[in-house]
Parts: sequence; structure tokens; C-alpha cells
Amino acid sequence: MKMRFFFLGVLLCVFMQLNAEERPFIVVETDDISLIYQVGTDGRLYQSYLGERLTNKNDYVHLPQGTEAYLTHGMEDYYEPALHVLHNDGNPSALLKYVSHEVNSLEEGVTETIIDLKDEQYPIEVKIHFVAYSKNNVIKEFTEILHHEKHPIILEKYASSMLHFAKEKYYLTEFTGDWAHEANMSETLLTFGKKEVDSKLGARANMFASPFFQLSFDSPSTENAGEVLVGTLGWTGNFRFTFEVDHLNRLRVISGINPYASQYWLPSGEVFRTPDFYFTYSTKGRGEASRRFHDWARLHQIKNGQDSRMTLLNNWEATYFDFDENKLLSLIKDAKSLGVDMFLLDDGWFGNKYPRQSDTQGLGDWQENAKKLPNGLGRLVEEAKMEGVKFGVWIEPEMVSPKSELYEKHKDWVIHLPNRDEYYFRNQLVLDLSNPEVQDYVFGVVDGLMTRYPGIAYFKWDCNSPITNIYSMYLKDKQTHLYIDYVQGYYNVLERIRAKYPDLSMMLCSGGGGRTDYEALRYYTEFWPSDNTDPIERLFIQWGYSQVFPSKVLCAHVTSWNKKASIKFRTDVAMMGKLGFDINLHELSEQEREFCIQAVRQYNEMKPIILDGDLYRLVSPYGRQHTSSMYVDKLKNKAVVFAFDIHPRYGEHLLPVCLDGLDPNKLYKVEEVNLMKGSKSSLSENGKVFSGNYLMTAGLRLFSSQELFSRIVKIEAL
Ligand code: DGJ
Repeated sequence: MKMRFFFLGVLLCVFMQLNAEERPFIVVETDDISLIYQVGTDGRLYQSYLGERLTNKNDYVHLPQGTEAYLTHGMEDYYEPALHVLHNDGNPSALLKYVSHEVNSLEEGVTETIIDLKDEQYPIEVKIHFVAYSKNNVIKEFTEILHHEKHPIILEKYASSMLHFAKEKYYLTEFTGDWAHEANMSETLLTFGKKEVDSKLGARANMFASPFFQLSFDSPSTENAGEVLVGTLGWTGNFRFTFEVDHLNRLRVISGINPYASQYWLPSGEVFRTPDFYFTYSTKGRGEASRRFHDWARLHQIKNGQDSRMTLLNNWEATYFDFDENKLLSLIKDAKSLGVDMFLLDDGWFGNKYPRQSDTQGLGDWQENAKKLPNGLGRLVEEAKMEGVKFGVWIEPEMVSPKSELYEKHKDWVIHLPNRDEYYFRNQLVLDLSNPEVQDYVFGVVDGLMTRYPGIAYFKWDCNSPITNIYSMYLKDKQTHLYIDYVQGYYNVLERIRAKYPDLSMMLCSGGGGRTDYEALRYYTEFWPSDNTDPIERLFIQWGYSQVFPSKVLCAHVTSWNKKASIKFRTDVAMMGKLGFDINLHELSEQEREFCIQAVRQYNEMKPIILDGDLYRLVSPYGRQHTSSMYVDKLKNKAVVFAFDIHPRYGEHLLPVCLDGLDPNKLYKVEEVNLMKGSKSSLSENGKVFSGNYLMTAGLRLFSSQELFSRIVKIEAL
């Protein structure tokens, strides 16, 4: 009997060894996440597991085989594929088999796994790359497609990532909206069939939908509980997320470039590299997922992500197009007296034959308007230097007004249909960045300004139109490449700018939050989330973007939108992000101006906590009455709590708000700050000392029953 077991054991071992050799497990893992693939007996690659890290490698053998990892069109799968190619002989199928994989260390705590798949029938190859950021628990995925057929193959679909799930229920949170109404969060239960979140706008690609999502499993996740996958695509163009539930209630999530009108001819021997898809998987809710993204982005992704950010005074809402040199010189002085780091000159400073006095003309003619600026930008740069503030300037170099000298000279550079009337979005058209000559020109806009005025410290790079009238003179018979080549051309330009001006700060702006993705943020230091600066709306918009982006990149300006809200309320909202002002300071009362000056000082003191600390969202504005969030420094010594009463209900029972992220064993002093001169804190706990434990379990009475009331509370360890 014992012998029989012994032999059985030996046999099993041999079988398992053979199994393991022939059908390896490929494990992509971070400190807390495992993504496990295995090769099936049919030689294909299967995703067996994605979730909380599996700690014992011996358990892998118990995993179900799972679903084929990177499903292809034309075989036996009945749902949306990751890959669809057309071979030279007209055959539209692909069958990918595992060939090999390798794991390389890129830097301390960052490993790359590359899985190589090939079709035995056709010389095509797919390499799936995973870069795992261990400590941050973020995984980046992209795919390389290449072939050695005689002529180009046609890529119909080419996903960056395909992930599979087998859970009871799937809840999708998307971030959609419109101009001045960005990143609204809405949650849907996914049932059988397909849900797509995508963009077909070309440029200004995120005007209606942001390129990120949250996917909760079994039940909707909360800030501190529940399983949730948060994913985002780094692509500043048409993207598509497909969520498809099949007849077995399995879910596939396909992320990548939107293949809409984008068939791609891939020449033999060339590599088609998809954009990066980034994701994290948390078992402790959305708050943890956000903090992972914030840390990872500051460390690995955002341009100068470790550096601080400049506060600023912008003239857009103070003047619109109506300014001259004198007005700007006095605004520079205002910036100085406000105590901000920079003055930012917005739209309207250029164009002579077609002066930019409104949004109807002038884009493309990047010479200073001689009437408005007789001494050029140089005079402003000089003045700013004398006042000890930095100088920044607005550009929109990818665009052209039909009323411009550039349009007259270079119609061939414009994306438009030569045989049809032009359709304009904001009276403008998009330049054809697939054309290298246009790329040189766009690079030259920045380079030219920087060469003439090396004192420029910042660009606000706007993009106010989607691609309309889509046709490229340059691409000739490859029109379906335009959406993709446009974005590649844009990156070529940005790459050159970053290489030549590594310290230059740039704001990614697109008529508000029309461009908000992590690939663009490799070249920009921050972005403009929305033209809507009504502080109430901003509470929602900033709450939405904060799910994926750190406050360091969320520009938040104090403006005149919604004057029902006090200057304090408006400033407190803006202090949750990268603070700026876009307001005529002279329309404020003396007391309000003084408040703004002290608010800048206060912000500078708290900036490292707000921009580099951990964000804990405490009360969602989606409840509408009140909202609160806090930032905690990495050592848990200092925190800043923001609380807002939006529209309290009559007779409402106000409950304390439990803080988060503190050390339960430390003692903290609670102090309300940023008060208007002469007003006293009404916070009952003001000035008192509490343990972290108390603050996180009993909480603070942060909310009031006053409409549009706000407070900022500093928490400091003794
Ligand atoms: C749209 C931007 O979002 C605004 O902040 C401003 O820069 C205008 N464009 C200028 O035209």
C-alpha cells in the first residue's frame, strides 16, 4: 500500500515537473498583486489569475487554466478580440502560441516581463510587455506586433491590454461629461453584452470621456473597502475601453487605441507598439488605488514629478482678449503683490495681419501683436524678472485659424477635406501633425519663443478643437493612419521639447480637461481640469480626477465664477490642487485681497503635504450637502483637512467626520487655518490635542449648517 502511494507520488512529481517545464507559469507581480499566466496543453497562453498577491508559488498548480490571454479574431472565440489582422493572402485570422518569455530588471523594484507569442501559420509575432512597479503596485502593459510577410499586413484591431475576470458582479465607474462638465463619475452594473467607453475626437480627445475607469467586483467598492481594478490608457488621442460580459458571466476588459476608422498598414519587419495601459488592483477600495497611482505617477511618470509646482496669476478671466502692454505690466505687479511665483499671459498676444482679438482668427501666426505689445514679449519677461516672478505664456501650436497667414501660406498643412466646405470647431482647424514638416513647425513655435526669450519659464499649451473634416494631404492613400500618426507626431514634438528644455514647466490644457492622460503627462508638469471654476463644480471635477491623478497636476484657479461663494470658499477649493488665481484682484475688496495674499502664504507652507502627501477622500460631494478630503505627509506628522458645506439641509443632524491616514498612537494638535482676517474659528475642536486614534474613530465636527461654508484644518503631531 505504502509502495503504491510512493510510486504514485513519484509519477505525480514527474508529471508536475514535465508540466511545469512545458507549460510554465508566467508571473507578473508587485508587492500586493499577482497576474498569472500559464501555457495550455494546446500551446496557447491563458490568464489564470489576477488579484491580491498569491504568496505560495506551489498553489499556482491549483489555479484554473482561465481564458486565452490575448484573443484573436477568426478562431473559435465569439466575443470582442484583442487582435484582428488581415494577412497578405486575405486571410483574416491569427492563432497565437507561446514561444518564450523573459523577465528583466529595469531598475530597483521595477521588472519587465515579455511574453512572446507566434502564429505557426503566418510569420506574425506578438510580444506582450508587463512592467511591474513593485512598491507602487502599478502594472504597465503594452503590446508589440510585427510580421515578416512580403507586403504590409493590415491591423484592424490591436489592443494594448486584454484582462479577464470571473466574478459574480461587475460595477463600472466611468468619467464622462462635456466642456465645463468634466470627469463626472457614474457607476453601472455590467450585464451580458458590451459596454464601450471611447473617444473619436482625435485631438481634444477627452472632451466627453476620460481615459480611465474603475471596475469593482461583486459589490461597488468604497473609499476603504472592496475589490477594485483602476485602469488608464496613456494615449493622447482616440482611445477605447471595451467591457464585455459573456454567456458564462466572465468579463473581458480590452484597452487600447480606438480602432475606429484606423486600419493600419504595417510593413514587414516594422514594429507596431501600442500605447501603455496602466492598472492597479486593490482589495481595500478606491482610496488605496488612487494613492498607488499618485505615488507611482510622481515617481515614474509625470514630467519633473518629484519637483514642486509654481503658484500663478493668469490673465485669462481678468482680461480675456482685451489687454495691452500697460495692463499686463500692472498684472505682473499684481502677481508680485499677491505673492505667487509666476504671471501667465493667456490667449490674445499674437497675430498682426489677423490680430487675435477674439477666437475667430490669428491662430498660427505666433508673432507678437505690435499694437498690444509694441516691445514684444521681451518687455514682459524683463518686467517679470525685475519683479522677481516667473513668466509663462499661452500657445496653441497645433491649431490654425482659417483667417491667418499660416493658413494662407500652408493649406497643405491643414487637416481638412479639400473638396468640401470646412466645418469649424471654435473657428479653427487642426494642423496635420502626421507630416514631419508640420512637426518641425510646431516644435519651432516653442523653440523660437525660448530662443528669443530664454526667460520664459512656462507654457500653457492649449488645444481647443477636435479633429474635424478629417483628411491629410500628407498621408495620401493611408488616410486611416491619421488618428494614430497625429498622436505619434505630437509625441515626436513633445519629445524634442523635453530633450531640449528639461526644466521647462508646461500645462496640458484642452479647452478645459480635453486632454488628461498619463502619456501626455510625461511631457507636461500639470493639466487644466476644466474651464469651469465655479468652486462647487470644481469640488466634483477635482474629486473625479483625483481618483487617478495626484493634486500636483490638477491646476485649480480662484476666479469670479459663482460669486455667491465667498473668496475664502473659492480659494479653499483651489488650495486642494495646484493653486493659481485667474481674477482681477482690483475687483476684490481690500479685505478679500489681503485674504488672498495670506492664503498664498498659507498654501506655500502646506504645499508639500498637499502636492506630495497621501490623499484620503473622506466625504464625497456626490452626497451633495458636504464634502471633505485630507492630505497626510508620508511621515504621518502633518496633515491638512479640507471641509466644505455646499447646501446643508434644514434640520440636518451633522455628524463628525472620521479622519484617515494618521498614526493612531501619535498626538496631534488641531488648528483651523486660512481664516478671513478678524474671524474666529467655530470649530469646536480647534486648538485641542487628540490622539490619531481618536481623530480616526471619533472624528472632528468639521461640517456646519451654513451654506457655502468652508474650512481648512491643520493637524500636526506634537
Ligand atoms: C481654453 C482654455 O481652457 C482657457 O483656459 C483659455 O486659455 C482659453 N482656451 C483661451 O482661448
